Amino acid sequence: MKKTAIIYSFNTKKTGKIAEQIKKSFENEEIDMVNAEELTDEKFLSYDQMILGVPTWFDGELPNYWDEFVPAIDDMNLSGKKIALYGLGDQKGYPENFLDAVGILGRILEDQGAKLVGFTSTEGYEFENSLAERGDQFMGLAIDYENQGSKTKY
Ligand SMILES: Cc1cc2nc3c(=O)[nH]c(=O)nc-3n(C[C@H](O)[C@H](O)[C@H](O)COP(=O)(O)O)c2cc1C
Repeated sequence: MKKTAIIYSFNTKKTGKIAEQIKKSFENEEIDMVNAEELTDEKFLSYDQMILGVPTWFDGELPNYWDEFVPAIDDMNLSGKKIALYGLGDQKGYPENFLDAVGILGRILEDQGAKLVGFTSTEGYEFENSLAERGDQFMGLAIDYENQGSKTKY
């Protein structure tokens, strides 16, 4: 059986709420919840399928806990891994860097051979620039609690 994990920081409120919502939607499937702040290479590579939650911080950057793990990814062979990303961002507050972290992490994972899945339409969002934009899609699911909270259940 394929091993699946949702990986996010257990110290984030909003990103964590979305993680729980995603887990619920899988109902009876076995999915591990993994704290990104305690992630090791071995743990990461033990999963075949992963959903990574990544808010954008610091004007277009990855949060520190992902930033710290990223150098390890550079030495990994991720071929055969299926990865979906979801990101939290604020399109009105940071229109020039909306959801950038999804684009940054997505490219790093793709460069090591991972297959990214779960791209979603950019329709309905207003921003100037996003590293997560590829054609008319985001390289994952874009959640904007600040401006579109009503579109999210929690
Ligand atoms: C200091 C600061 C910088 C931020 N920079 C960005 C940014 O560059 N791009 C973006 O889309 N959102 C940015 N945001 C918005 C956050 O991504 C958003 O509030 C998100 O919901 C945070 O999720 P978390 O609480 O789970 O970490 C920033 C927020 C703060 C407080």
